[in-house]
Amino acid sequence: MPRGFFITFEGLDGSGKTTQLRLLADSLETEGRALVTLRQPGGTALGDRIRSILLDSRSESTLGHIAPATEMALMFADRAQAIHEVILPALSAGSIVLCDRYTDSSEAYQGGGRQLGSQRILEMHAAACDNLQPDLTILLLPSLEASLKRARRRNQRNTQKKGADENRFESEPDDFYRRIHSKYEEIAAREPHRVFPIREDASIEQIHAHIREIVAVRLAQPVG
Ligand code: TMP
Repeated sequence: MPRGFFITFEGLDGSGKTTQLRLLADSLETEGRALVTLRQPGGTALGDRIRSILLDSRSESTLGHIAPATEMALMFADRAQAIHEVILPALSAGSIVLCDRYTDSSEAYQGGGRQLGSQRILEMHAAACDNLQPDLTILLLPSLEASLKRARRRNQRNTQKKGADENRFESEPDDFYRRIHSKYEEIAAREPHRVFPIREDASIEQIHAHIREIVAVRLAQPVG
């Protein structure tokens, strides 16, 4: 059975990863590639429910404080379902899967940001996801200063927007983002074959061109 190709996009809030994923999806579709895109948390009916609990800033007042380990477990419940319902079937059918965030986000946000540590996340990944790893991860990682500026700008925009209530994470202090940024650096250093960090603060088009190059090279190599 042909095995598709699994690509994840990672980065801090406001890093531009969602825009870049969409641009890559458009260009792969233009090339006629079979493609499935999803985001985490979310991407399944169950996952969308989990997403609204985890991201809605009102959750803390309606449900009480969400403990870091609960947050981690819910992220993995979402992921296990997405793997079962969407990712594995698509890969078995030979499709390219583009996923907006995956386990690196749990390692960076819950492991780093919430200080649960990498080991707990990686053990959870083994238990809930049978260690399914992306073939390639595009990590959008401009400097910490640029990232913080963007996260704050986005935070302000979301607070001003009435009804937009997906900002439970985005109202965290700078230190939280600092820890996430350095955890992403750690992951990139640990897994250079899988993770391609893009550090430049270039235009959307330039970054897209860079990503297309990386993806073209990797798609031309046999999966192994
Ligand atoms: P996004 O859809 O805008 O990327 O937002 C998802 C938020 O959820 C973002 O703040 C990162 C956070 N998140 C985690 O904390 N851990 C995870 O495992 C995932 C997938 C997301």
